[in-house]
Amino acid sequence: MSRQAVGAPLSRVEGRRKVTGRAKYAADHPTGGVVHAFVVGSTVGRGRITGIDARAALALSGVLKVISHLNAPKLAYRPNPSSNNPEGGRRLRVFQDDKVLFHGQPVAVVVATTPEAAQHGASLVEVRYDAEKPSTNLTGAPAHDPETYARGDADQAMQSAAVRLEMTYRTARNHHNAAEPHATIARWDGDRLTVWDKTQWVVGTQRELAAVFGIKRDAVRVISPFVGGGFGGGLRAWPHVTIAALAAREVGRPVKLVLTRKQLYSGTGYRPAYEYRLRLGSDRRGRLTAMVHDIKAETSSYEDFQESVLTAGQMLYSMPHVRQAYRTVPLDVNTPLYMRGPGHATAVYVIESAMDELAHELGIDPIELRRRNDPSEDESNGTPFSTRRLRECCTVGAREFGWDRRAPEPRSTRDGDWLIGMGMAAGVHRTLRNAAQARVLLDARGTALVEAATSDMGPGTYTSMTQVAADALGLTVRDVEFRLGDSAMPPTPAHGGSQTMASVGSAVQDACDKLRRQAIELAVGDARSPLHGVDAADVAVSGGRLHVRDDPARGETYQQLLARDNRPHLRSLGSFTPAESRFSLFAYGATFAEVAVDHRLGLVRVRRMLGVYDAGRIISPKLADSQALGGMVGGIGTALLEQTVTDHHDGRIVNANLADYLVPVNADVPDLRAIYLDGEDREASPIGVKGLGEVVHVGVAPAIANAVFHATGRRIRELPITAEALL
Ligand code: MOS
Repeated sequence: MSRQAVGAPLSRVEGRRKVTGRAKYAADHPTGGVVHAFVVGSTVGRGRITGIDARAALALSGVLKVISHLNAPKLAYRPNPSSNNPEGGRRLRVFQDDKVLFHGQPVAVVVATTPEAAQHGASLVEVRYDAEKPSTNLTGAPAHDPETYARGDADQAMQSAAVRLEMTYRTARNHHNAAEPHATIARWDGDRLTVWDKTQWVVGTQRELAAVFGIKRDAVRVISPFVGGGFGGGLRAWPHVTIAALAAREVGRPVKLVLTRKQLYSGTGYRPAYEYRLRLGSDRRGRLTAMVHDIKAETSSYEDFQESVLTAGQMLYSMPHVRQAYRTVPLDVNTPLYMRGPGHATAVYVIESAMDELAHELGIDPIELRRRNDPSEDESNGTPFSTRRLRECCTVGAREFGWDRRAPEPRSTRDGDWLIGMGMAAGVHRTLRNAAQARVLLDARGTALVEAATSDMGPGTYTSMTQVAADALGLTVRDVEFRLGDSAMPPTPAHGGSQTMASVGSAVQDACDKLRRQAIELAVGDARSPLHGVDAADVAVSGGRLHVRDDPARGETYQQLLARDNRPHLRSLGSFTPAESRFSLFAYGATFAEVAVDHRLGLVRVRRMLGVYDAGRIISPKLADSQALGGMVGGIGTALLEQTVTDHHDGRIVNANLADYLVPVNADVPDLRAIYLDGEDREASPIGVKGLGEVVHVGVAPAIANAVFHATGRRIRELPITAEALL
């Protein structure tokens, strides 16, 4: 018997291609005759374009064309409800009118034979504006009508609560800032469009381009085999994707468009800034009675972006009374999008900070407080949890982190000039699943090619799908190749929301199960096979060989089976369609952090962190660690470093670069450790997976914030926690 591939700590199967430069990212794809585009961004935050003078740009050697609303064709811009547009029909319509809706909005594009000429040309395009003062400040701006939720009578319960807390938390806008910038190469062959794009969803980009240009989906092919980091930033097709395709059509040549780091800040989405007021009531023993959530988040004037910021407040803890109001505030900004642990991370930062405040107020250990409020069912809808092992996450984490060494009193532990603190927070993320397909082709050499139109922005899709397929086919991982990132492959949902493993993995499993059964049926039905006449249920496949389960000597290889009938291959198409579940499906985690704060400088250093996760079955443990550690690093950024700063006078982002927008570097990242509770959840998916990539990020920022409070006795209710705030 060969060893199981699932659960083995494999390195990335595509790792060698990545470190040797053979992996082709969007802008790397060699395209014959390609020319280059550079976007001209608005230098005002709101208003109208009154004139564009492109003469100097057009006079530049190499410049082929300058496209703006003055000469761009009208595009179809059909509604596209299946994309990750906040609203299917609305989006930024590039070069369709003279309106400026935010600073940096594309107002023209220069196409030239070299990238340098395009960029130089863009700097020579003179755009005149009738500028107005933009509204970019979340505080004080009018909001849309709220999305609401209520159970019980939270206002009444608040009035009669023995203990009442009321806090307002603020979180900064965060940009994804993946290593690979967004880039698109577009090529038209007659009416057919091929696009190489940085995207987490080739199918979504295909649909969007078909809708924008008013052509059939089949006429658009989107290719994206490698994604240099995503964090959610590639979950929809941004305006530059349309611009590249439009420019290619206008100049009759393939066009490459790469956004600069600065342009990413206004050209793609971000985690929106929030103002989150939370009131909570409890009894004196810390049993929650009520929470009231008043939530405000930024969105753009042209789309209403919403995310799952209400979920955690409805089900993380037990309480009879909840009221929530979530208001988006339309501002003169570009539209936000999902970013790691979307919605959940923000809500859990607030809830878990507040729980820490309540624990301190009542003198109860933070873990004990959470234990006292652990629900026995999902109180948002009365459904049982499929699996919920949050208490176990906390218990294991406390033991492994040495929580018993934590002196309860804040500001009571020192190490020279450093104040030392320990904090913890729970994490939760809804288990998402969506319909997916996969196909497999087993060739005469007995090697398998498995394909699905999914992505691998880093979590290890290439590797984990190879593992699932290898076990289902009874092959070693060496004999399986998994390909992804092409809209011509079987369709899959967006590569985000931690749904890839559960959805695509289950489709891969189904495709490979079907193919294995097909091979077994052929063998047992063939008089020339050593397996002839054996009950199919008694045949197993391992190491590429079909054999009687209890008599491994009796059998034959896939090669022998195919060679006998001169079959070039076997093939199958698998699918996964999530059933409506009568269970509440969530992944859980508990994050522990130890920080040191220099009490003279306000400097915060994270010393160590531990995450313990209840995420169902772990397919690929080494890459799960990569996910978990990456989620913690992202959380360090959100907690202590990352903030996109807007100048409210003109709507300009003032730190649109990696020198001024701070992300954690190695010196910021200490000893990190992840533990996964052994288990699986067959309600969540046929392969027992709940999803890992989001939950590992949710809970990190509040664990750090709570540790900072424990170190200093100072409660900072704003992220990131800066040195200035601590002084
Ligand atoms: Mo992640 S925000 O689901 O790419």
